[in-house]
Amino acid sequence: MGQVFVLDHPLIQHKLTYIRDKHTGTKEFRELVDEVAMLMAFEITRNLPLQPKTIETPVVETESSVLAGKKIGLVPILRAGLGMVDGMLKLIPAAKVGHVGLYRDPKTLQPVEYYIKLPSDIEERELIVIDPMLATGGSANDAIHSLKKRGAQNIRLMCLIAAPEGVEVIKKDHPDVDIYLGALDEKLDEKGYIIPGLGDAGDRLFGTK
Ligand code: URA
Repeated sequence: MGQVFVLDHPLIQHKLTYIRDKHTGTKEFRELVDEVAMLMAFEITRNLPLQPKTIETPVVETESSVLAGKKIGLVPILRAGLGMVDGMLKLIPAAKVGHVGLYRDPKTLQPVEYYIKLPSDIEERELIVIDPMLATGGSANDAIHSLKKRGAQNIRLMCLIAAPEGVEVIKKDHPDVDIYLGALDEKLDEKGYIIPGLGDAGDRLFGTK
């Protein structure tokens, strides 16, 4: 069963408070999301494998450790996921980045991919799907299906804030996917906003309405 990790590091929680605050303007919001994404990347990469490397310090030869070169792919869901990519790339600069854009056809209710571009070797990569808000779980669920359909074997999901409803959807449909959150909020309202949440992440990141 997929696990849910709430990354309750004090710096993440502090910055999330200002991200949530409606008085925080676009510039600061964007900067804070970038910083939280970087801090979350630090936590999410905690278990990356290491390999030994012999080096010489100015004093002595010693065996130290370097990353074993696990291939990582970031997959932001358009458009709000874009706001977390640069922060993550600061810590994992060699990661490849794929993009997924989808919507639900209002008639058929089937997911429609209007854009998808992925690294060619996704089956070998550890993929981190990025969506700031896990609300109903619909987009993340569909994006994960899209990746699996194309051969992805190893997927994690990273969100700033989730509602319990969205977490349950992912746990049910994708029990192999671990979920990393900055915060697990109370509920969804009747319009599908996360409560207390932060409003519309895309609008707040890009200054649209
Ligand atoms: N998407 C958002 O941007 N905010 C929410 O609260 C829910 C979905």
